[in-house]
Amino acid sequence: MLKITWGQTLSGTVEISGSKNASLPIIAASLLLEKVTLHNVPRIGDIFSLLEIIQSLGVVVNFTGNTLTMDMSRISLENMNRELMKKIRASILLLAPLLYRFGSVDIPFPGGCNIGKRPINEHLNGLREIGYESKDGDESIHLSGKLQSGDKNLYAGFAVTATENLITANILRPGHTRIHLAAIEPHVVNLVDFLKKQGANIVMNYDHTIDIVGVERILTIGEFSIVHDYIESGTFVVLGALASEGYIDIHHACISWLTSFLAKCQEVGVRFEDRGEDTLRVYRSEHLKAVKFQTNIFPGFPTDLQSVFCILLSQAEGVSRVQEIMFEGRLNFLVELEKMKGHPALMNPHEALIFGPTHLRGSTVSSWDLRAGVAMIIAGLVATGDTYITNVEYIERGYEDIIGKIGKLGVVIEKTE
Ligand code: EPZ
Repeated sequence: MLKITWGQTLSGTVEISGSKNASLPIIAASLLLEKVTLHNVPRIGDIFSLLEIIQSLGVVVNFTGNTLTMDMSRISLENMNRELMKKIRASILLLAPLLYRFGSVDIPFPGGCNIGKRPINEHLNGLREIGYESKDGDESIHLSGKLQSGDKNLYAGFAVTATENLITANILRPGHTRIHLAAIEPHVVNLVDFLKKQGANIVMNYDHTIDIVGVERILTIGEFSIVHDYIESGTFVVLGALASEGYIDIHHACISWLTSFLAKCQEVGVRFEDRGEDTLRVYRSEHLKAVKFQTNIFPGFPTDLQSVFCILLSQAEGVSRVQEIMFEGRLNFLVELEKMKGHPALMNPHEALIFGPTHLRGSTVSSWDLRAGVAMIIAGLVATGDTYITNVEYIERGYEDIIGKIGKLGVVIEKTE
C-alpha cells in the first residue's frame, strides 16, 4: 500500500531510466547469442520476472545496477518455469528465439495486465507462415517444425510484440522476409538496432514494412545500451505540470518520441521548454483547457500515457473526450478517479468523457494496471486529503524506483505493508 500525504510539491531534476518495452524484446532476442551485456536495463518487476524465466532455461544471469550479463552456453528447455510464463505478457517474446534454437516449444498462454484481451493471432500466423506448426492446447501454445527458406510476406497488425517476435524469428531464416503493418515504436527500432549490431540484415521502411534478408550467422557475443523510456518521461511531464512547485527538469526526456503527446499537452495549456541535451523543463501549469484525444500507434498518442493524461484532464476546464482505440479495458481505471471525486463518464469500453476541473479528494484507490497505478499517484498529489493506493506491485512492474525518484523531487510517498 502507498500513502500519498497531500499538499506536497515537486522540484528538482529526474533522471529517466532505461525502457521497459525495449529491454524485454532485446533480452528475449539475446537468447540467440552465446553471451550478451546490456546496459541501462531498468530494475523493475517485469524484467526480474523475465530473467527468472530465462534462468529456468539454464541461462547464467548477472544483473548488477543497470547492467545485465547473460551466458546462454547451457540453455535448455528442461526446467522451463511455465508457471511464471503465465504471469507476464513479455514471455510471448521467448517464442521466436526458443523455436530457432530447439525447433519446438510449448508455453502457457502469456498473462499481463487487465487492460484487455491480449490476442496472439498475429504472432502465431507469422510463425506458421515460416514453417512452424501450432497445436494449441486450451492452456498452452505448442509450436514445432523446421524453418522454411524462401521469400515470405508476414503481417503484424501494427502489434508491437508481434512485430518484435517476427523480426527475431526471421533474421537467421534463409530468404527475404517482408513484415507488413509492422509496429515502429522506439522500442521496436531499438531491437532492430541491437540485431543489426550483431550482423542481422534489417531495413525499416516508411510505410510500416520491415525487410529482412536472412543471414547465415550473427555475432554470438554482444554488448548494447537500451534506450531511455519515453513513457516514463511522459509520466513525469504530467507530474511536473500538476504537482511541481515551480518546475521540474526531466533528463533523457526522449523529446523527439513524444511529439504527439507534447502537442496535446501544449493544447491543454501545459508549459514546458526544451533545454537542450534532451532535457525538458516542465512548469506548474494552471488554467488548463479540456481537449479531445485518441490513442494510436507510434508516432500517435501512446496508449501507455492515456491514464496519466486523464488525470491532467480532470484538472482542465471543460469536457474532454478520450478515445482508447487499443485496449478495451484500459479506461476502467476511471472508477478510481471517481472515488476521488473526479467526474469521468465511461461511454463505452473505448471512449470516456472527463468533466473538469474537479477538486480531487484523497481516498483509498487501486492500481488497475502499471500505468493506471502511477496515474493514481499523480491524482494523490493533486488531491486534498491523503490517498492510499493498493496493488502497488503493478506500479513496480513498469517504473524503476518511482517512489525514490519522486522522493528526490521532494515528495515523500510512504510504502506500508
Ligand atoms: C506492447 O504490448 C506493450 N508491451 C504495451 O505496453 C503497449 O501498451 C502495447 O504494445 C501497445 O503499444 C510491450 O512492449 C512489452 P498487444 P503488445 O497486446 O505488443 C492487437 C505497458 O504499459 N493484437 O499485442 O503485447 C491487440 O488486440 C504495456 O508498458 C492482435 O489483434 O500489445 C491490441 O489492439 C501495456 N493480435 C494491439 O494489437 C495479436 O496477435 C496491441 O496489443 C497481437 C496484438
